[in-house]
Amino acid sequence: MPTLAILTSGGDAPGMNTAVAAATKVGLAAGCRVLGVRNGYKGLMAGDLVPLDAEAVRDAWRRGGTVLGSRRSERFRTAEGRADAARVLSAVDDLAGLLVVGGNGSLTGAHLLATEHDLPVMGLPASIDNDLACTSLAIGVDTALNTIVEACDRIADTARSHKRVFLVEVMGRECGFLAMGAGIGASADAVLVPERFQTRRALLDELARVVTDAFSRETPRDHLLILKAEGVAVTTADLEAHLREALDTVDADVGVRATVLGHLVRGGSPSRMDRLIAARLSHAAVHSLLTGATDQMCGWDGREPGGQATVDPRVTRYDLQTVLEQTERLLDGSHPSTKGRLKLLDAVAGVLAL
Ligand code: F6P
Repeated sequence: MPTLAILTSGGDAPGMNTAVAAATKVGLAAGCRVLGVRNGYKGLMAGDLVPLDAEAVRDAWRRGGTVLGSRRSERFRTAEGRADAARVLSAVDDLAGLLVVGGNGSLTGAHLLATEHDLPVMGLPASIDNDLACTSLAIGVDTALNTIVEACDRIADTARSHKRVFLVEVMGRECGFLAMGAGIGASADAVLVPERFQTRRALLDELARVVTDAFSRETPRDHLLILKAEGVAVTTADLEAHLREALDTVDADVGVRATVLGHLVRGGSPSRMDRLIAARLSHAAVHSLLTGATDQMCGWDGREPGGQATVDPRVTRYDLQTVLEQTERLLDGSHPSTKGRLKLLDAVAGVLAL
């Protein structure tokens, strides 16, 4: 009986569980035995595999986090660690493939397992950061954006009541997608992202401009909301201090507060959109593995050239090598999507600041 193994790895993302549940059900329906790997690559190296059936994953569909567990493993980054993992997988009878649900680092690991050990692997993009190429959205991004926008709406209530400038920091590692997407959703007055590679001086000048414009105008604003991605090279405390100084110059009796949303944004039940993306990606990925595809990732509405069609018209398969190369470009600013995102942000920024 062909065996499908499923692993979640890296930072958990809402919808990872939907992916596990959907892949399990699609695998069972196709006549496979399904194994869940506990605790990511760490569990794989230790042979921590458990059988999954429909009952085991029934509640997972709607739950945040990952029921399989996840760890960040340094050992898996070594050739010895990956050799241990490969030994475990090679001992699985009739392995149809390993489905790796995770972000950049997790898919790098999947690619190495495929190329160094000739193992059948398929990746699914899952990371709230949306820092992967060849997929317009990764699993978890939509829920994270909804959470940030809701948090910003709440913060705006208190900001308005006290006439304050709020600096809100959101996760995203080196990627500013969450700040950009939520910035538009929450109608933020400024959005600071690492993709602009601004110097500290340029960032401080931008904040000073925003503050002066908002509080020196004929009808001054009653609050301001500034979103900052965690990957911006200047600390939130530094920016907060500068905002105070900038406000002193406009003499507007305005306070400043900073909030770091942090892991709050990673938890929670997946949105309908994340469930849909996770289920459809999983469905296409399991079919792809069962028809012999390997060393690839299934992307949602990927726009890069070089993708292959799957059973789902919105899901395209890309070689992991391509995904990883294009992801590097996404983060160094040379990818067309990064340029497009910044252009769009510039276009709406002037309107949002009105
Ligand atoms: O990659 C997801 C992410 O949540 C990033 O946005 C963040 O920088 C990082 O993981 C935090 O990792 P940890 O949970 O290990 O602190």
